[in-house]
Amino acid sequence: MRIAIIGTGNVGSRLAEGWTVAGHDVRVGSRSPRGGDLTPQDAVAGADVVVVAVPGSAAVDALRPLAPLLGGVIVVDVSNAVEVRDGVVVLSHPGTSVAELLQRALPDAHIVKTLNLVNDGAMVPRASPRAAELTNFIAGDDAGAREVARRLLVDLGWADGALVDLPALDYARALEQGILLLTGARAEVSGLPLGLRLVTDAPD
Ligand SMILES: NC(=O)c1ccc[n+]([C@@H]2O[C@H](COP(=O)([O-])OP(=O)(O)OC[C@H]3O[C@@H](n4cnc5c(N)ncnc54)[C@H](OP(=O)(O)O)[C@@H]3O)[C@@H](O)[C@H]2O)c1
Repeated sequence: MRIAIIGTGNVGSRLAEGWTVAGHDVRVGSRSPRGGDLTPQDAVAGADVVVVAVPGSAAVDALRPLAPLLGGVIVVDVSNAVEVRDGVVVLSHPGTSVAELLQRALPDAHIVKTLNLVNDGAMVPRASPRAAELTNFIAGDDAGAREVARRLLVDLGWADGALVDLPALDYARALEQGILLLTGARAEVSGLPLGLRLVTDAPD
């Protein structure tokens, strides 16, 4: 599968390596391309899946110019958008979510929200044994797009049982609010794999 990753930071680089190792054709888009990186336009041209790995506050502005290239494309949004106001970490887009704003800006793309509650050290469970204990959510309106995202996560080493399907993009609001909890916890475990685990006695 051809995957374009927008953003060359902690998340973009880990996902690029994880999917390259899994055999995918990965192209990385950067505002200032270096080495093998491309412009965002060149990276997404012909991509099956585009991954948004930029700050959530910049995601819509970064992706909007690419809209003509994204008709029918699956856009996987892993971003969070928080800021500090009066000493308190708050959501930049309360009452909605980055994922929903992206869907509005890219009406012909299929937005899927995932991985935003897993820190970068645990995003590729194949490379991080503790990550295998975590839960990861997949939210989106399009069932086919969620299924493609699920398969790509399995390629990173996620077990099927660790992936929770949320069949509407509205769930992105809850997922993005969850980062407020993890932002506090992160201060205590800086640099270590961190995420959530959903426990149930329901059969798989
Ligand atoms: N780090 C984590 O553990 C983690 C976990 C879950 C979710 N996330 C989310 O994943 C996203 C990426 O996180 P990260 O840790 O990889 O961040 P990062 O290391 O700061 O990298 C973000 C990348 O986005 C690009 N970028 C920065 N500002 C931009 C702007 N104004 N417009 C367009 N592109 C911009 C830059 O790439 P170029 O300069 O090459 O364009 C930069 O390398 C964020 O939304 C974050 O909340 C992070």
